[in-house]
Amino acid sequence: MKILVVGGAGYIGSHVVKALMLKGHDVTVYDNLSTGQEINLFKQNCFVNGDILDYPALLSAMRGQDAVVHLAAKKAVGESMENPMLYSVNNISGSLNILNAMVECGTKYIVFSSSAAVYGMPDKSVIDENVPLNPINYYGFTKLEIEKFMGWYDRLKGIKFVALRYFNAVGYDADGDIRGKELNSQNLLPIIMEVVSGKRDKLKIFGNDYSTPDGTCIRDYIHVSDLASAHVLALEKLAQGMESQSLNLGTEKGTSVLEMVAACSSVVGHEIPVEFAPRRAGDPAVLVASANKARKLLGWSPKYSDIKDIVRTVYAIN
Ligand code: UFG
Repeated sequence: MKILVVGGAGYIGSHVVKALMLKGHDVTVYDNLSTGQEINLFKQNCFVNGDILDYPALLSAMRGQDAVVHLAAKKAVGESMENPMLYSVNNISGSLNILNAMVECGTKYIVFSSSAAVYGMPDKSVIDENVPLNPINYYGFTKLEIEKFMGWYDRLKGIKFVALRYFNAVGYDADGDIRGKELNSQNLLPIIMEVVSGKRDKLKIFGNDYSTPDGTCIRDYIHVSDLASAHVLALEKLAQGMESQSLNLGTEKGTSVLEMVAACSSVVGHEIPVEFAPRRAGDPAVLVASANKARKLLGWSPKYSDIKDIVRTVYAIN
């Protein structure tokens, strides 16, 4: 298939591009390099330096494409609450440009990077796709709205979509083919690695009084290469006639912050200094996916199930 990967130079996008190319797809990366990096572009794929807000440029990149993988978005939860306009424009208007360009060019399929943030603070700790959608931050709201727009473009224009609701994306390509580390990440594992490399003194653990076995928050950490393989399968299933879907992607296993620290200590071979700090606003105690729907519909299953194996892929490029 001819596939336009929007945001293909970014952290998750570059892993998706590799997975698509290994399957023989004809990939064009469309990226404005605002957070993506040139070092992540494979020589064999075609690259267009463009912005999703530049409709004429987007339209010309869209012509002749069979499908889109859309990963271009602003994704910092805190920033989305302070500067919602940035998220309205980049995430919502940008995605509408993509959908409109698809209609204009006759491009039929889209795989969209959504997020567990669409669920907000669910009552249940194991989350399937039937849990009420109730985002508690503007970032999650934009992801949910885009899913709804895709639903309408399916009904009105026949564009078939898969929205992949990622849980906590972590890790790096184990072959070392993707060399650009995610820049300025505020997420747990990259921060622990900054402590390991001496860039930070210690990890601040946000809350140790949650109702979890060790008092720290539990998340479902899914390796980025496993996320990438789901995109390939989703596109192939759409092309085979699968109806539009929203699917969770996670390992179905929870890891607490302290368990993550212990796994990292074991991989790097020394203690990692931590201190307990107050809870961070908006953090649910436990978020673990049921990925049963993705397993069934895509025939997908994550290859990385051991958190230490995931940590090793991060430490290797640290
Ligand atoms: N944490 C710390 N200290 C830190 C950073 C994080 O204790 O310095 C804790 C957080 O409180 C949380 C856990 O580590 O309990 C994971 O936090 P992250 O910031 O790595 O990830 P989040 O679960 O907050 O959010 C991530 C993405 C979101 C996405 C969500 C989906 O950043 O975009 O996963 O589950 F929506």
